[in-house]
Amino acid sequence: MENNKKTILLGVTGGIAAYKAAYVASGLKKKDYNVHVVMTKNACEFITPLTFETLTENRVCVDTFDRNFEFKTQHISLAKVADLVLIAPATANVIAKLANGIADDMLTTTVLACTCPKIIAPAMNTAMYENIATQVNLQILKDRGWLVVDPAEGLLACGDVGKGKMPEPDVLIRCAEQVIAKEKDMAGLNVLVTAGPTQEAIDPVRYITNHSSGKMGYALARMAARRGANVTLVSGRVALPEEPFVETVRILSAQEMFEAVSSRADDMDIIIKAAAVADYRPTTVATEKIKKKDGEDDTVIKLERTQDILKWLGEHRHEGLFLCGFAMETENVIENSRKKLTKKNVDMICANSLRTEGAGFAGDTNIITMITKDGEKSYPRLTKEQTADVILDEIMARRAQK
Ligand code: CTP
Repeated sequence: MENNKKTILLGVTGGIAAYKAAYVASGLKKKDYNVHVVMTKNACEFITPLTFETLTENRVCVDTFDRNFEFKTQHISLAKVADLVLIAPATANVIAKLANGIADDMLTTTVLACTCPKIIAPAMNTAMYENIATQVNLQILKDRGWLVVDPAEGLLACGDVGKGKMPEPDVLIRCAEQVIAKEKDMAGLNVLVTAGPTQEAIDPVRYITNHSSGKMGYALARMAARRGANVTLVSGRVALPEEPFVETVRILSAQEMFEAVSSRADDMDIIIKAAAVADYRPTTVATEKIKKKDGEDDTVIKLERTQDILKWLGEHRHEGLFLCGFAMETENVIENSRKKLTKKNVDMICANSLRTEGAGFAGDTNIITMITKDGEKSYPRLTKEQTADVILDEIMARRAQK
């Protein structure tokens, strides 16, 4: 068994969502975790061990007697090396056993011997999930420190519509990463991140906006949460999934973003303004859809400046706040960004050029230069998650020096 990467014990129990556990196993493996699957006998009725063995490149533990198997201590040795237990999907039956310390199969026996963090994703019929017995059992697990991932609502395999669906594999993978991917070096810090574009209404139908995807801001919020920070994400309208461990405040306009940020600023240790805030908005917003007017000049929209949120924060900053802005430029990146550093009274500007391939709005990578009063640090092309991490590393190092 490799020890240079973290080991996840994925428990799969007998529900129709068991097929989705294959995506979870595959996703975790792609992220370089060492995945060991333990299946209940009923789970093998829904999906075969071979599927998981092929995906994880590890032998699957099931409740069949197998002479080639180191059956004697297999469950104990797995329990010892596991850095995380993730049970998905978890049936009401297995939840009840785990809550009561019953160890009568390979999965429950192994998990009873595990001392590492544990995550469980219940998936079942709505009435079974809402039954007080199941709820009491889940509460017992929560009280013992398990992370219980609430089932999603939707059309269930039994035909009912309600709560009981296993969350999508991506959500479960994020939960696993939240628990084990990072050292919690930002524990206790309050971090506010802004992300995405703002929308400045012209009339009820139209608005002015920009190409920001929100990916950089969301990655910053995600990585800060993974490092243990209490994260508030003030987000414009984006097409990204909800960040599960982050408090998200949704806004549309620059003014709404200003209100959401300024009212929270005093409680923050770190503010990172990754949002692409519109600099201008229409002076008036028509209450009805603007119609074409023949014979009149209807081609001009009068604009006014929006509030510069970062500048306001720089002027009203409290002691101990670390303020980080972004600068998106098309020319003279460093020079223009350095001007923003002084003009807006911030500690750091992360500059990126819209003209460089691999940097900018829509993609999953970025190329940044961090600009501070005492210097510049340039980074090669990194994923937005890696970029977020180097930004947070720099902020943490600079806070420690203060
Ligand atoms: N910003 C802000 N409020 C605004 C405009 C920008 O808080 N009304 C913040 C952005 O979130 C970013 C930084 O200021 O962190 C720089 O944004 P950018 O658009 O590059 O610069 P501007 O200040 O708008 O300057 P210019 O448009 O002249 O380049």
